[in-house]
Amino acid sequence: MNSFENNSSRYIGNDLIRFLGNDVLSAAPEKEPERQHYFIAQLKALGNPGASDAQDQSHDADVKPLTAAVVTFGCQMNARDSEKLTGILEEAGYEMTDDEENADFVIFNTCTVRENANEHLYGRLGRLKNMKKSHPERIIAVCGCMMQESDEVAKLRQKYAYVDLIFGTHNLYKFPELLFMLHRKRLGMVDSLEAVHAGNAVLTDSSADHERYEKLLRYGGNTGTQKDLEKLYRKPVVSVWQDSGDIVEDLPQQRKFPFKQGINIMFGCNNFCSYCIVPYVRGREKSRTPGEILEEIRRAAGEGVKEIMLLGQNVNSYRGISSEESVFMSFPELLQKVDDLAEETGIERIRFMTSHPKDLSDELIEVMAKSKHVCHQFHLPLQSGSSRILKRMNRHYDKERFLDRAAHLREAMPDIVITTDIIVGFPGESEEDFLETLDVVEKVRFDAAFTFIYSKREGTPAASFDYQVDEADVKDRFDRLLELQNRIAAESLERFRGETLPVLFEDVSEYDPMMITGKLENGTTVHVAAEPEDQQRLIGTVRQVRLEESHGFYYTGSLV
Ligand code: 5AD
Ligand code: SF4
Repeated sequence: MNSFENNSSRYIGNDLIRFLGNDVLSAAPEKEPERQHYFIAQLKALGNPGASDAQDQSHDADVKPLTAAVVTFGCQMNARDSEKLTGILEEAGYEMTDDEENADFVIFNTCTVRENANEHLYGRLGRLKNMKKSHPERIIAVCGCMMQESDEVAKLRQKYAYVDLIFGTHNLYKFPELLFMLHRKRLGMVDSLEAVHAGNAVLTDSSADHERYEKLLRYGGNTGTQKDLEKLYRKPVVSVWQDSGDIVEDLPQQRKFPFKQGINIMFGCNNFCSYCIVPYVRGREKSRTPGEILEEIRRAAGEGVKEIMLLGQNVNSYRGISSEESVFMSFPELLQKVDDLAEETGIERIRFMTSHPKDLSDELIEVMAKSKHVCHQFHLPLQSGSSRILKRMNRHYDKERFLDRAAHLREAMPDIVITTDIIVGFPGESEEDFLETLDVVEKVRFDAAFTFIYSKREGTPAASFDYQVDEADVKDRFDRLLELQNRIAAESLERFRGETLPVLFEDVSEYDPMMITGKLENGTTVHVAAEPEDQQRLIGTVRQVRLEESHGFYYTGSLV
């Protein structure tokens, strides 16, 4: 018996209205995050009634907790958002599982940066269709970047009508309230979403269901109306906003690794690179205040976090206003403060991503080079080595400027690892343009490159550019780029062989249960043999490792 079937029995003698009724809804505080904490507590009571009732804990023990799976696509920002989703679900009493096909609740946190990310979601949803048929009481939710595209939401509502809950990137903090609203809807209470939208401009939502509901109720209770109502109760709750309102702090979160954490410093992007959909789905840039960021880091350090990653689509344009002084703080200034705080609190490593080459300043390089804890690792997306294509990409730097920035990084920190992103086959890319990209790859000698075939995103300027490149040419270029980059990466990795360097161990190796795997300060992966009884003691700590053999992308070594 799965836990949801088991769950239906937990309501015997309990009136669901007790957890979902109008009184409960109207008693919700207006202020955030208190409002969401309130709904989390209600969800917990709903999933496990005994827990909310001090006199009646007798049946608590034999009720299995509901299970939930969080499935994440895409970048570090999404990974961080998923930690927030997980934190909320755990606090609401769910037990987390990786088994999406059997979970009582599944949420897909989507990415839409390239077309194949979208296809990925549809594949996974398709697989859940039968499960949903046999277990209609299970809940499927979809959120993230892809839901900021109205066409995709329309497609879900039409062709994947078994999805129950849809929300976007700007209202992720409303997840507890939305889940509560979904439970009410299933029970026959189809609400106006006004309170959920909290005055924010809406891109797409399901508020028409509420209007229809009111109308049907006015018609009265003949069987036809009853059927229509029943249908309405199975429709999804949808709430997607156009842009972010306030940044809501202090919601629960659950770190994937106890010893490292992403810290959002800013959201959104104002750059509008011509191929990129991110500014449309993540909205305009919005920075958190230095006070909030430093406080979150201090708390993380107190909980034993050893490594933090400062996150933003474009961290170099961070402009946080410090409340005491009401002046803007730049990213290098923030990084300096974070480094000081790390020294004080025992954080060993600070990373950040992503930086835009156009505003990589000398000041930032200087802060990095002088810092005690900022890792000598830099992700510097090239996209193309051709100044002509860079211009069409709206990147605001040319080949020379990029080479200059990379050279400056290496000069200031000779041991730095530089990684990049490259797009092949951007509209109008000629063989000459492509050779310029290869030239930059040769000159900078990236330690790793994420290479992508250009993917047309509707709504971006590049989607209407002429001269889409011939598919066979794109494939040929992609292969040539990969071959060159792999050779360079392998050669450049060799430069650390024989050295003894600190490694932060993260996990048991996926490939060999007798090995543990960790990262050098510069981000390189290292595998080390460790007896099973020693593994848990080593994971989450920094140890000196002698790097013995390089294998193209990673090292094997031994503890000293
Ligand atoms: N096609 C291919 N790659 C893309 N990227 C962003 N948009 C596209 C697109 N339309 C790549 C860029 C970016 C990375 C996160 O994804 O290289 O740096
Ligand atoms: Fe997209 Fe350019 Fe913004 Fe990066 S900087 S998220 S590539 S628009």
